[in-house]
Amino acid sequence: MNPLALDLNEQLSKSNPEIADMLSDLGKLMYYPKGILSQSAEAKSTKYNATIGMATHKHGKMYANTLNDVFTKLEPDEIFPYAPPQGIESLRDLWQQKMLKENPDLTATDMTRPILTNALTHGLSLVADMFVDSGDTILLPTHNWGNYKLVYSTRHSAEIDTYDIFDEDGHFTTEHLISSLENYKKDKVMLILNYPNNPTGYTPTKDEVKVIVEAIKSLAERGTNVIALVDDAYYGLFYEDVYTQSLFTALTNLHMDNVLPIRLDGATKEFFAWGLRVGFISFGVSNETTKQVLEAKVKGLIRSNISSGPMPSQSAVKYVLENADTFNKEIQQNIDTLQARYEVTKSVVYDKQYTSYWQAYDFNSGYFMALKVNNVDPEQLRLHLINEYSIGIIALNSTDIRIAFSCIEKEDIPHVFDSIAKAIADLQK
Ligand SMILES: Cc1ncc(COP(=O)(O)O)c(C=O)c1O
Repeated sequence: MNPLALDLNEQLSKSNPEIADMLSDLGKLMYYPKGILSQSAEAKSTKYNATIGMATHKHGKMYANTLNDVFTKLEPDEIFPYAPPQGIESLRDLWQQKMLKENPDLTATDMTRPILTNALTHGLSLVADMFVDSGDTILLPTHNWGNYKLVYSTRHSAEIDTYDIFDEDGHFTTEHLISSLENYKKDKVMLILNYPNNPTGYTPTKDEVKVIVEAIKSLAERGTNVIALVDDAYYGLFYEDVYTQSLFTALTNLHMDNVLPIRLDGATKEFFAWGLRVGFISFGVSNETTKQVLEAKVKGLIRSNISSGPMPSQSAVKYVLENADTFNKEIQQNIDTLQARYEVTKSVVYDKQYTSYWQAYDFNSGYFMALKVNNVDPEQLRLHLINEYSIGIIALNSTDIRIAFSCIEKEDIPHVFDSIAKAIADLQK
C-alpha cells in the first residue's frame, strides 16, 4: 500500500475508527498523490510559474475568444437539459469529422463514433474499467504522466512496467520499447502511448512511428492481445517535422483483430479549455457489431459513474466546431505563440554555456521540456528556485525536472533558464 494511503488510514483509525472500518478495499488504497498538483500549489506565488499543464500569458490563461463568448450565446435548451451519456450526437459527428480531417489515413469505417468523456482522465478510467483486471500489465515509458499510476495501479491493481524512450545522451530511442515487446511473454498487455509526451514534449517522427507500429505488430503476431491506448491530450501542438496524424491512425491501419487501438483526445489542451471537461473515446475497429457492443458497454460505464457529461461544455464545443473559421484562427494564434516559445527554449537550453548544468531530453511539441540536471537533487533545486529565484518547476524524479514553456512568456525564457543554471551552480558548490 502507498505510504500516503497508510498514513491517511492511520489518521482515520485514530480520528474515527468506525469510518476506517467502513472503507472498501479501494477506499483503503486511495490517497491524494504528492505529485504535480502539490508542487504547483507550492509554486503558486512565484513570478515565473512553469509548473502547470495549462498555457498562460503574463496576465492570465491563454484561450480562444470565440469559445469565451459562447456562453452568452447558448439557448437554455443547450445548457440545462441532461446530455445523453454518450454525448450530444451532433457533437460526436463534428468531432469525428475533425479527427478524419486531421488524419487523412483514417476512415470512418475503421473507427467507432467518438463517445463523450468528462475529459481525458475520465477516458483513462473508463478504459481501465473495461479492460484492466488486477495483475494485468500496463507498459509505458519511464517518462510518463503520474496520474496513470493512480488510475491503473491504485484503482485497478495493474502491474506497471516501464521502458526508457531516451538514450544516455537524451535522444529519443525506440530500442527499449522494441526489446520490452520482444521479451514480453504474457497473453495480454496494455500499452499507453502518449505523444506529444508529458513530461518531455517529444513526438516521434514518421520513421519512428513505423518502428513503433511494427514492434506492436510483431508482438500481436506472436499471439499477445494488445490494447494500444493512445493518449492524445496534446494533439496538434507540433513544432517540427513529426508524425502529425495520431498513432491511433497508424495502429488502426494494422487491421489486426488482436490489436485494439483506443484514442483519448479532447478540448482540454487542443482548444485551450482545461476546465470544460470535454473529451472523447474512440475505438479503432471496423466490425459493426463490435462497434455497437463497445459503445453500449462504454455508455453503461458512463451511466453508472457520472451518468452523463455537462451539457453547457458540450454545447460550447459544438458551437465552436460549427463556427470553425474564426475559432481555428484563434487556436492557431495560440499554437503560434507556443511555437515561438518553443523556438526560444530550444535556442537557450542547448547553449554550450549550460552543458555543465544539464542535459536536455529531445523535445519538439506540446507544453513541456525536461532536463536531466547534473549533480543536484531535483527536489532541492525546485525548492531553491522557488525561494531564491521566484521560479516554479516540477521535480520529476531523482535526476530530472520539467519546465512548462507553455506558461512562460517568450522574452522571459532566457532569464528562467539562466536562473535555473545559477540555482544549480549554487547547489553544486
Ligand atoms: C498526458 C496527459 N493525459 C491526460 C491528461 C488529462 O487531461 P484532462 O484534463 O482532459 O483529464 C493530462 C493532463 O495534464 C495529460 O498531461
